[in-house]
Amino acid sequence: MRQRSTEGAGPVRGEDAGRAHMVRGVLTLVDLFAGCGGMTRGFEDSGAFRSVFAVEFDRDAAATYAANFGDHVACGPIEDVAAFPDADVVIGGPPCQGFSPLNREAVGFERRGLWREYLRALEAVEPRAFVMENVPELLRSAEYAEFRRRAEELGFEVDGEILNAADFGVPQRRRRAIVIGTRSTPPPWPAPTHAGPEADPLPVGDDGRAPWVTFREAVEGLPLRPDGRRWHRPRRPRPESVRRYKAVPRDGGDRFAMQRNLDRAGLGHLVPRCWREKPTGTTDVFGRLWWDRPALTIRTEFYKPEKGRYLHPSAHRPITVREAARLMSFPDDFVLPEEQAMSSVARQIGNAVPPLLARRIAESLAAALRRDTPSAVPYGPVGTERNSSAVAA
Ligand SMILES: C[S@@+](CC[C@H](N)C(=O)[O-])C[C@H]1O[C@@H](n2cnc3c(N)ncnc32)[C@H](O)[C@@H]1O
Repeated sequence: MRQRSTEGAGPVRGEDAGRAHMVRGVLTLVDLFAGCGGMTRGFEDSGAFRSVFAVEFDRDAAATYAANFGDHVACGPIEDVAAFPDADVVIGGPPCQGFSPLNREAVGFERRGLWREYLRALEAVEPRAFVMENVPELLRSAEYAEFRRRAEELGFEVDGEILNAADFGVPQRRRRAIVIGTRSTPPPWPAPTHAGPEADPLPVGDDGRAPWVTFREAVEGLPLRPDGRRWHRPRRPRPESVRRYKAVPRDGGDRFAMQRNLDRAGLGHLVPRCWREKPTGTTDVFGRLWWDRPALTIRTEFYKPEKGRYLHPSAHRPITVREAARLMSFPDDFVLPEEQAMSSVARQIGNAVPPLLARRIAESLAAALRRDTPSAVPYGPVGTERNSSAVAA
């Protein structure tokens, strides 16, 4: 297991994080709004990057980050970071606070202090590139238009696209806006490695793409009956909840199918009034995942079937935290502290950038930066030995 530090996250101390460009041939990273470090994990897994500084104000998330990557994470609001270290690449993005549509004045930009903080970090770090993730709505917002204009003033060429994590081998259909800013090379986009059934009539495989990874493949090796080890545990349901789960058909189903089956079985009293009175919408609620498809978007409350399609395909329970981590492409050696609350670990997982998607982005970015300065960055993965001291500062 990869565990560089068991200490909690350090204080806000960007000012002493050091000047850290290109540590022995590996590109250095600063992760803003780092969460538990899903994005950092993907960048480090590419073998081309090493994180030197991160900031995250949620204590648990920062502690998870520290347990996985070391105590260079500042635990506090980004607004309190006095100075940022130099680095080759800045990753992470301000959390979504709702966006104003494009056709309106960008009046909210200055008030949305986190964008200002992001630009402050770009000015201070002077990276060669940045990569930001957010909800798809970002790309149509006034905030993004304004951010882009200002990043261009700082010398970046900026491009944004919506990527589906499933197209990059993550067992989850998760659409997210990715924004890449580069200085002397066009923003490089990774080529999709996987394709879904809608890619027909072009048969999957003809363009070198594999079929989307399924739930079945994602949970391979995990016992159907959760053993509680390494977060392979679901929320403990009450007996009436289990009766509801049993009423959801094994072909996916949803709350309407559940309601019909409960009514037929004379258990109509188990259907909460609020759902009976809501005849449309929230169709994925109380649905089961499908064995042979990727999951739908895993959000922060995936342990609650009343929040989405989070029931196991055949067992009468919601997915476990470990299953959700697998559906996000977190490797099993990613440390999820056992002492944290399920709600907190679930939030960190649901908020993360799937590490495999981040890795694919990191690989294409590293290749572009190598082309840019061929002698400076070695070809081929560097430091892939996860605890390698060869890249330590
Ligand atoms: C979408 S999550 C980041 C996920 C992360 N990129 C990953 O891959 O795991 C956004 C994070 O920003 C943190 N955050 C929000 N406002 C912040 C602030 N003012 N300063 C520092 N962190 C903040 C939240 O606690 C949350 O963990």
